[in-house]
Amino acid sequence: MIKVVTIDTVCELLQKHGFKPFILDLLKNLREDFAAWDSFHKIPRPAAHSPNGVIELMPIWNDELYSYKYVNGHPANTQKGKLNVVALGQLCDMNTGYPLMFSEMTLLTALRTAAMAALAAQLLARKNSKTLAVIGTGAQSEFQVLAHHAALGIDTVRYVDLDQQAMQKFAHNLDDKGLKLIACRTIDEAIEGADIIVTLTAAKKEQHVLQDQQIKAGVHINAFGGDSPGKTELDPKILTHAKVVVEFFEQSHIEGEIQHFPLAQAKKIVYAELAEIVSGQKPGRTNDTEITVFDSVGFAIEDFAILRLVYRLCEQYGLGELTNLIPDIKDPKDLFGILVPSPNLLGEG
Ligand SMILES: NC(=O)c1ccc[n+]([C@@H]2O[C@H](COP(=O)([O-])OP(=O)(O)OC[C@H]3O[C@@H](n4cnc5c(N)ncnc54)[C@H](O)[C@@H]3O)[C@@H](O)[C@H]2O)c1
Repeated sequence: MIKVVTIDTVCELLQKHGFKPFILDLLKNLREDFAAWDSFHKIPRPAAHSPNGVIELMPIWNDELYSYKYVNGHPANTQKGKLNVVALGQLCDMNTGYPLMFSEMTLLTALRTAAMAALAAQLLARKNSKTLAVIGTGAQSEFQVLAHHAALGIDTVRYVDLDQQAMQKFAHNLDDKGLKLIACRTIDEAIEGADIIVTLTAAKKEQHVLQDQQIKAGVHINAFGGDSPGKTELDPKILTHAKVVVEFFEQSHIEGEIQHFPLAQAKKIVYAELAEIVSGQKPGRTNDTEITVFDSVGFAIEDFAILRLVYRLCEQYGLGELTNLIPDIKDPKDLFGILVPSPNLLGEG
């Protein structure tokens, strides 16, 4: 028997535990896992590319647990009434190899991505940051705002999207959350006075959503939408004079904003992997004028962190359905015995 976590289970869990406590617990798990970076086996995710998008498998493990996520990115999907990003995942026991939990991960991806942005902002944004600019108000956007609000006390949100309907949806979803929401017509207007800019656009091309000359001293950029070869968001010049932090260099150089640079130059441009800052090996922001960039592509450790949190909370609240996706038998050598009570299964009358 393994625990199956559906969309309904995640909604019920967030109702019972509370959105803010969930984000704060997730931040704690993320910090713990990034601090234990060296104890994880890590590989850049294998990616299956097609003209419309990408499908990725994201495995990671330590001595106790193994997790993987199946996730896609198909930016044109939203024009066909489908999500750009959907995901499923599994958490397993390393000692027996038995799966513990199979979970929806579309919501969990949005939650862990938002918590990651908040974690990066805690380490890299100016301490008194209050204003967040959101560029791209699609599926990820409200999660991002609420995580920045919960973790940093962001109270003002300036936002822009090419799609007016997406902006209206964003305003509607956030209108009762005690935030000052400012709809903007241009990116220039959206980033005016912002302490933190989060880019969440989806287009399978090299975009310059932010130009170098637009970036003011002291700003922190959470760059999340550039996460695949040929799919980037920033003017690369920004990276040449900013403090650039990535998740896992090996994967980020294939998929992140730093893909614009040859390996040797990318190595010079990247100041640190996030784990080095979380563990205190390198300082995060050191003054109020430097420009910082978290060039996020999404790494498996983030899924690991949220899967183990969801597993623990589901145990605590008695959530998730135990389902026989794995045989539960008295004699482990008698797998065939499962079939015996149903002779028709063998095709005999
Ligand atoms: N780094 C990570 O861990 C991570 C995790 C999840 C998603 N993502 C990425 O984040 C991005 C957003 O994901 P989503 O699920 O919200 O996608 P989505 O398709 O729901 O929303 C994207 C929005 O960006 C807007 N947009 C596109 N180009 C724009 C531009 N130039 N200016 C302003 N708006 C623009 C679109 O109109 C759309 O509303 C995607 O690129 C996705 O791949 C990254």
